[in-house]
Amino acid sequence: HALRHHKFMVRDAPFTRLCSTKNILTVNGKFPGPTLYVSKGETIIVDVYNKAKYNITIHWHGVNLPRYPWSDGTEFITQCPIQPGGKFNQRVIFSEEEGTLWWHAHSDWSRATVHGAIVVKPAAGNTYPFPKPDREVPIILGEWWKQDVVKVFDDLVTTGGDAAISDSYLINGQPGDLHPCSSNDTFKLKVEHGNTYLLRMINAAMQDLLFFAIANHQLTIVGTDGSYVKPFTVEYITISPGQTMDVLLHANQPLDRYYMAAKAYSSALRVVFDNTTTTAIVEYKGKHIPSYSWTPHMPSLPSFNDINSSVNIISQMRSLADEPHPINVPMNITTNLFYTVSVNTLPCPNGSICKGPRGNRFSSSMNNISFQSPTNKINILQAYYNNISGVFTENFPDVPPQLFDFTGSNLPPFLWTPSVDTEVKVLEYGSTVELVIQGTNLLAGTEHPMHLHGHSFYVVGWGFGNYNKEKDPLKYNLVDPPYQNTVAVPKNGWVAIRFQTKNPGVWFMHCHLERHLSWGMAMTFIVKNGNNPQQQLLPPPPDMPRCY
Ligand code: C2O
Ligand code: CU
Repeated sequence: HALRHHKFMVRDAPFTRLCSTKNILTVNGKFPGPTLYVSKGETIIVDVYNKAKYNITIHWHGVNLPRYPWSDGTEFITQCPIQPGGKFNQRVIFSEEEGTLWWHAHSDWSRATVHGAIVVKPAAGNTYPFPKPDREVPIILGEWWKQDVVKVFDDLVTTGGDAAISDSYLINGQPGDLHPCSSNDTFKLKVEHGNTYLLRMINAAMQDLLFFAIANHQLTIVGTDGSYVKPFTVEYITISPGQTMDVLLHANQPLDRYYMAAKAYSSALRVVFDNTTTTAIVEYKGKHIPSYSWTPHMPSLPSFNDINSSVNIISQMRSLADEPHPINVPMNITTNLFYTVSVNTLPCPNGSICKGPRGNRFSSSMNNISFQSPTNKINILQAYYNNISGVFTENFPDVPPQLFDFTGSNLPPFLWTPSVDTEVKVLEYGSTVELVIQGTNLLAGTEHPMHLHGHSFYVVGWGFGNYNKEKDPLKYNLVDPPYQNTVAVPKNGWVAIRFQTKNPGVWFMHCHLERHLSWGMAMTFIVKNGNNPQQQLLPPPPDMPRCY
């Protein structure tokens, strides 16, 4: 039967927030953009039209697209951008994912406003591994800039200073009534006492991990990144940019009004950050108790720099790992990788004035290589597929240039400056990979929500400080580790992930803090074809956007 089509018109639309109006880039004039509802195993076609004045690409975050990187939408990695006036029909193949994912633009900073939810329901005849909720609600956390995000991005890369901070966080596109001019710009969830709500949470913010809670209510986490977890109940969640969570809310409190609130977790590096709290309202239907609060109850959230709270979720996530939801953690590792993630500086180009430390510009790196995108003439997938040389080299190192005390306070100055290059790591089909990602204290440590395209991975271990290759593997969870596509490397700490390469193609990996990505905290994997035709890339669609 014919595949379902969705139409995405990328275009400017005026929105008023925080007392002023500006044009923002949207899909179909909506902000956040439309929610895609699909079933596990379904394939859809999204017809993306670029009616904007900027180049654009659209990425399906956490959708692994088996054998079909052509639709991944990663600018200059898997495609050249859709030019203004252009169009690209993207085939989005849902295979193993089930739960909440999202889509977003993947070019410069356009994802600030070009994003939306993806809800993957169980395949026909299957049910959730928890009692069916009475209602489902996407909760998308975002950020609002009064200034144009194109300018925020340009400043970041040209003057090389730290990124401008947003003017508020958003819940479903709204700042909430604690912000000026925003009493009508407050998302409201009306609930029925006794009902259960499945909150499909997405952190679409650009810059910060967020704390989120609902006053007087507990939250039960049942899934993350399009995969279920053993339910666990918390007072607040910590969610990193890029991450998604399925959260059950039981409306079991007196008929009243309660704030849901989100605010940033920010470790030392960003001395200046948006420390405002954004709110939405949970309002019970029916006749309210006499003490009905016109001022809703406010939840308490951890303080902005509470590092122990920043890891409250990662330490509790466990896969279901039951018969209907089997897991497959690689046990015999063929490929051991160790990547550092750092914030560095590069010399300021001659004649310009840079705003980074010591008059330099900020940069970021993995294994001390700052990722350089190919120019707009070509992308890596096209170069790989057509054997075009000179676009990238295959020298991305398996270990950092030097072992050092990664989280110490006096790091060797030669590490301050990364090299700048387009290097990929080639992996054979069927490799079993263990990748340890180590945060460093270069400039100052911070969290890095690392995201891999094309493959989900098991998070088998994490810790603070330097990874210890003798002791730490003994503490791995190889029984029921969570299956994710984004994992926050703790400040001055490490995570260990495992995955098997079963998806041929070109797959980006990067930090989902937008400033770090813009500065080069990224690398690219090429997963080669397997021997069996079922393990090989499908051919590209005829309408791949042209490179100019
Ligand atoms: Cu959510 Cu490379 O992206
Ligand atoms: Cu980062």
